[in-house]
Amino acid sequence: MSFALIGRGSALAVTCLLATSALGQDAEPQAIVDAQFATAGNQKGVRASGAKGVCVKGTFTPSTEAPSLTKAPHFAKTVPVTARFSMGGSNAKISDKAKPVTRGFAMRLSDTTGDLVFVIISAPVFSAKTPKQLLDFATVRIPGPDGKPDADKIKAFAAANPETTKQSAWLNARPVPASYAGVDYWGVHAYTLTNAKGDNTVVKLKTVATAGQLGLSDEDLKAKPDSFYADELKERLAKGPASFDLVAILSEAGDPTGDPTAMWPEENRKSVKLGTLAITALEPNATCDANTFDPVVDLPAGIAGPTDDPMFAVRSPAYAVSLSRRAAGQ
Ligand code: HEM
Repeated sequence: MSFALIGRGSALAVTCLLATSALGQDAEPQAIVDAQFATAGNQKGVRASGAKGVCVKGTFTPSTEAPSLTKAPHFAKTVPVTARFSMGGSNAKISDKAKPVTRGFAMRLSDTTGDLVFVIISAPVFSAKTPKQLLDFATVRIPGPDGKPDADKIKAFAAANPETTKQSAWLNARPVPASYAGVDYWGVHAYTLTNAKGDNTVVKLKTVATAGQLGLSDEDLKAKPDSFYADELKERLAKGPASFDLVAILSEAGDPTGDPTAMWPEENRKSVKLGTLAITALEPNATCDANTFDPVVDLPAGIAGPTDDPMFAVRSPAYAVSLSRRAAGQ
């Protein structure tokens, strides 16, 4: 890890902390990240979420329809991709069989004009709608002296904050994915796409796995070791690319744009394929670990995040805090 990167993370954290206060957010990113780390015993040198994961590379090839929605240069030609699949949470030793835990897909689409980063999860909703709610969600999950969180506190928090249970309910209703490449992922925020004519379209993004939804039965789970995703991916990629369609789900009047715990009724929404992600090979973890996938900063013209979703804005300073902490080996 170079000094320059550590410096970048710290500078970003300071800049963004100020920006966060200006946005009127109700919890400091540092406090949230501290609580996220504490839920898994403050492991050193790992991410505050997505601590266990696999770095990969590939390409993104836009569809012919994509430019009608966005003028971002990443949707005008095939571009290289660096990506990382991961398990939710700050426990780098978590079992790949864990449930209800989101699988994550962070991706950087590179272009000479700049990068386009999406960081998405295997559920259509996030677990909190405000930074304070996320802070409290994590805080009640911090283990006590007996090494376990207080089940009564978690229950009471869930009862008082029902929207925070939607994600786990959704995951519990589905099998554990058999492969990082055998599950769909959602960008839970509402993005605005702008084309060259200046037309705006509000969408949610989703990746649809070409392999379909590959789930493990209870029997399958018993036969699996705690870590199998990395090997499964290696074997899969030896046979050919693992691909996903990147799809824009178009909003309709009244769809909430500021609450990532609110699901849009996808079956009633039109969608447009924006292109195909082809994951072609594993990449050394150092490539992904040297930086953070920040989905907020430096979005190119043609795609913008929501301005009314406090969870979107707070991601940038939180990711910078985590990066500077893990880069320092803390
Ligand atoms: C709202 C939707 C969100 C989604 C879909 C999401 C998903 C993810 C994923 C997939 C990763 C792993 C990235 C990687 O592989 O490098 C990650 C990392 C992380 N997330 Fe989130 N996250 C969300 C919101 C938040 C929020 C609101 C916070 C805190 C305020 C947060 C804190 C973090 C941190 C600190 C990391 C580690 C960053 C690093 O060290 O590089 N996330 N997130």
